[in-house]
Amino acid sequence: LADPQVAVPELLGCPLEDVRPAPTQPLPSQLYRAAGDQRLNSTGADLADPAQRAPLAAAVAATQVQAVPLASPTDVQDAVVRLQGGFKAWSETPVAQRAAVLRRAADAMDAQLAPLCGLLVKEAHKTLADCVAEVREAVDFLRYYADEAESAGDAAMQGRGVFVCISPWNFPLAIFAGQVVAALVAGNTVAAKPAEQTPAVAAACVRLLHEAGVPEDALVLLNGAGETVGAALVAHPATAGVCFTGSTQVAKIIHKTLAQSGGDRVLIAETGGLNAMVVDSTALPEQVVDAVVQSAFRSAGQRCSALRLLCVHEAVADGVIEMIKGALAELRVGDPANLATDVGPLIDAEAFTGISAQVARLHREAQLIAEGRVQDGQVPNLLPPIAFEVRDMAELKTEIFGPVLHVLRWKGEPDAVIERINALGYGLTLGIQTRIDTRAERLADLAAIGNVYVNRNIIGAVVGVQPFGGEGLSGTGPKAGGPNYLWRFVRPQALPGRP
Ligand code: SER
Repeated sequence: LADPQVAVPELLGCPLEDVRPAPTQPLPSQLYRAAGDQRLNSTGADLADPAQRAPLAAAVAATQVQAVPLASPTDVQDAVVRLQGGFKAWSETPVAQRAAVLRRAADAMDAQLAPLCGLLVKEAHKTLADCVAEVREAVDFLRYYADEAESAGDAAMQGRGVFVCISPWNFPLAIFAGQVVAALVAGNTVAAKPAEQTPAVAAACVRLLHEAGVPEDALVLLNGAGETVGAALVAHPATAGVCFTGSTQVAKIIHKTLAQSGGDRVLIAETGGLNAMVVDSTALPEQVVDAVVQSAFRSAGQRCSALRLLCVHEAVADGVIEMIKGALAELRVGDPANLATDVGPLIDAEAFTGISAQVARLHREAQLIAEGRVQDGQVPNLLPPIAFEVRDMAELKTEIFGPVLHVLRWKGEPDAVIERINALGYGLTLGIQTRIDTRAERLADLAAIGNVYVNRNIIGAVVGVQPFGGEGLSGTGPKAGGPNYLWRFVRPQALPGRP
């Protein structure tokens, strides 16, 4: 345990009594030495129970991913016409009924946890722990937006028209479902364009929504490439808005297309980040390393919220780096269907090639700290988690969407570190690790970052508790899973008696 009387070199006049004492109970410092299969499993209650995990493992073994048809340009045109036709009936359906449809779908999704996990493992190559968490997040989105829409009422929840939802492969169920049901419950009809890599998960979700009562002409699934199907939907003048989660680069193209078309077509974009964690010399090293491993390597780093840059005060850097080495040596990198796996594969060979090139560059330009070890040689696209020490933030040239961590030592004022992080231009997630509450508050205020987490990991925002979304290059807002989200999907109309 960290010594509460430890010297705090960068305190700069902060009285020692302002430093929270270290906890007297041991932290999970043995985390990376422990045997067992729950090391990165935040949903442990389920997966620890053999009775609950057996059906999941069986569902994964039994799952076969079916090919899905791709949409042609004619399909896109037909879908928009169909959705325009369906708009009147769906938008005039009382919001309580639309919300009831979402709740029915949520119950069905909950009941289909095992088969959905099977699809997520087989198609998106996510670990079982991630799959369980993802199904839960999707269910949460359905119930949360149902409640929000219903309490806003019919007069407020008037849809804009045909909404385009374009979603990524890293949360092929939760983000897909979250976008689609937000647009639907707000009274829009929806053209849903999932990522090319994960069409079967999207198809399962759409089937479930149709079975729960979403009319066929209120929700149409269009599979295909972003450059063709996605671009055609965005360019279509009859679509009222676009909800997009993906790269900053593509968000800019969509933004431009919508702006050039004039009118009030809206964009809700959630994009990438160069997310950092700032660790001062009072922070608890075990807690820091636990948070770092979860944030940087869980989901193989394939989260927009994932940690890319650990900024650690020079007084504690050596100790933290030593523990990161220990953690990397212990992480199990392998088959996502294996419950013991901590870090699964990258989404596909293209991602593997691209990130491997970035790792090769870092080998030339930065100092290797440590690299994990792949256990299951026969599983494709497994990239061992890896950490490098860099000398300057400028060395972070781009978001590397994989299990690659940069570590930077700092000294002096933590405020200056936050200012440099702000200057990177992104603003999605930030971690602050300190035992000085006033410092955490000050740094959070200073940070131009959408989601700030103190003394914990920086991933896995909980619907309704941690509304999720960034600033700057990280997105337009409003935050998903928060009280402002649905308002961007509805017509902004002032009514007598209501501002
Ligand atoms: N919402 C996810 C998280 O918080 C990222 O999309 O990790």
